[in-house]
Amino acid sequence: MSREVHVVSHPLVQHKLTLMRRTKTSTSQFRQLLEEISMLLAYEVTRDFPLSLERIETPLMEMDAPTIEGKKLVVISILRAGDGILNGILKVVPSARIGHIGLYRDHETLQAVQYYFKVPQDLSDRDVLVVDPMLATGNSAAAAVERIKAKGPKSIKFVCLLAAPEGITAFHEKHPDVPVWCASVDQKLNEKGYILPGLGDAGDRLFGTK
Ligand code: URA
Repeated sequence: MSREVHVVSHPLVQHKLTLMRRTKTSTSQFRQLLEEISMLLAYEVTRDFPLSLERIETPLMEMDAPTIEGKKLVVISILRAGDGILNGILKVVPSARIGHIGLYRDHETLQAVQYYFKVPQDLSDRDVLVVDPMLATGNSAAAAVERIKAKGPKSIKFVCLLAAPEGITAFHEKHPDVPVWCASVDQKLNEKGYILPGLGDAGDRLFGTK
């Protein structure tokens, strides 16, 4: 299937998201909530991972027990706010490999310019989650995924907290094969590229920089 959008509507996710949106929520609460929601998103996003049986010994007997097949998951964070989601995913998939990608928008060309790119060397045969809390215009998400695709991973999913309809459309124009997972598809973007109703600047709220 292409152009998939999955909204995780679990009540715990939705309740925590409401707390995150509130202006009065503190930096430490915001950080904690993003970590908690990201754990729950990870639970849903990894639901289709195939299992195979491994012969193990319990203290009482041998058994064939399920384990996740294949190579370790790779989580690639789009700097800087992506690290908030990364930290939550690592709580439930502690053995995941980690990558970072840094992009800024050139004010003249409006293109995403890469200033940092470090991902595990061999991405072939690996499932990748690309993470960034806000899918707003979709430009940086699309640029990040383009660079990651060039490394030939087995699969890519994009995981965010909030997505704007415009951002989803723009992202899927370039990458119809990459499913988007989020906690909410909000109303729209404003003229400055912020998601409405949104939660403000995710990076500033996460790191307390404003
Ligand atoms: N990035 C943010 O941090 N917030 C938005 O609303 C849009 C992009």
